Amino acid sequence: MKTVGVAILGLGVVGSGTYKILRDHREFYRKTQGVDLSVESVLEINKQRALDLGIEESKISDNIAEVVSNPNVDIVVEVIGGVEPAKSFVLAALHSGKSVVTSNKELFCKYWYELEAAARRTNAGLYYEASCVGGVPIIRTLIDGLQANVVQSLTGIINGTTNYILTRMSREGSDYKEVLKDAQKLGYAEKDPTADVEGYDAAYKLSILSSLAFHKRVPLENVYREGITNISVKDIEYGKELGYVLKLLAIGKNDGKNSIEVRVHPAFIRKDHPLASVNDSFNAVYLVGDSVGDVMLYGRGAGDFPTGSAIVSDVIYAATHSEVKYATFKNTEEPDKNTKFVTDFRSRYFIRFTAKDKAGVLAKVAGVFAKYNISIIDLIQKGEGIDEIPIILITHETNEFSLRRAIEKIAEIDDVVSVDSTIRVEG
Ligand code: HSE
Repeated sequence: MKTVGVAILGLGVVGSGTYKILRDHREFYRKTQGVDLSVESVLEINKQRALDLGIEESKISDNIAEVVSNPNVDIVVEVIGGVEPAKSFVLAALHSGKSVVTSNKELFCKYWYELEAAARRTNAGLYYEASCVGGVPIIRTLIDGLQANVVQSLTGIINGTTNYILTRMSREGSDYKEVLKDAQKLGYAEKDPTADVEGYDAAYKLSILSSLAFHKRVPLENVYREGITNISVKDIEYGKELGYVLKLLAIGKNDGKNSIEVRVHPAFIRKDHPLASVNDSFNAVYLVGDSVGDVMLYGRGAGDFPTGSAIVSDVIYAATHSEVKYATFKNTEEPDKNTKFVTDFRSRYFIRFTAKDKAGVLAKVAGVFAKYNISIIDLIQKGEGIDEIPIILITHETNEFSLRRAIEKIAEIDDVVSVDSTIRVEG
């Protein structure tokens, strides 16, 4: 039986999970996959951490050159995260002709073209299932399961931290800051939560997933991004009254020609939408293909064993396939000039504003919407006997830019005290 040597760069949560899966399933993979996967080297500065996992001292290194020049290593797993030193380490492995398996979404979405070019030069494999949605096999589904389709849209809850925070805000009626603090204590959110709560993590993943789904490179700069830091629990409560659930959505749309729309932002969806019941730190991706119709994948988007599961599935693939597959599109630094990235996208909107409780104020607001050709579906006025009242309205589908102009004009109306939130309504 063929023995394939694996090196793991970094024994953090995911690296340790990956090591344990490989160690504990070695015999299982020998039987089911016909390959003997042997961890031959680990790159880890904290030697004790590696020893505690039962790794032999001779296999622990703090020198990347030593790891990638080890003739017993065929596949290098990068689970360090961030751009550097991960990028230099991955390039060193590819230059040495080793196949690379990575969970690094930031590195991959920013430097995919450079990594792929390096891999092609030495005919090495480059695998990244774990970079998007952890244990959910979304990348293999796009490449090997749905390749018969023109994928028309992809809508996902692809960040577990924000889904956990929004779920708790909705369940408990607690505000954002309170839930974030608790999420940090419980280990669901990082000490510096920016990447998750400002939507960067979801944008990295959407850049990768939409490039694969639509067969065109979708650079990170073209992904519109808004996080959840300005979400008020009041919006979640009012949305609930109207039959909506608030989620941080990653949305990709493809017109099948040259127009692509990619955006990450909080959005209301109807409570009976398939994504509405994806709660806590769970992730899901809902896809529509022209032949298959609707497909949804659901599962854990992070964690030692879920992400380790995706990594080991790539290791097995790399160990059992000699032919290497790369991106189906021209993977260059500059994206295809013919691709148009839509910015004036269409959506419905939930708008909450505070106004003086005076005759005529609603007529003035309605007048502005009429001027911009925006039609209102629903309107609720809250509170009685108070001078300043909250008003919530939902619009029909309209263009983003018209909506923004209308909101500016509404804020200028004398009796409007403040425009408090504008949230898109999808699905
Ligand atoms: N921080 C990410 C999340 C997990 O909350 O989903 C890894 O991408």
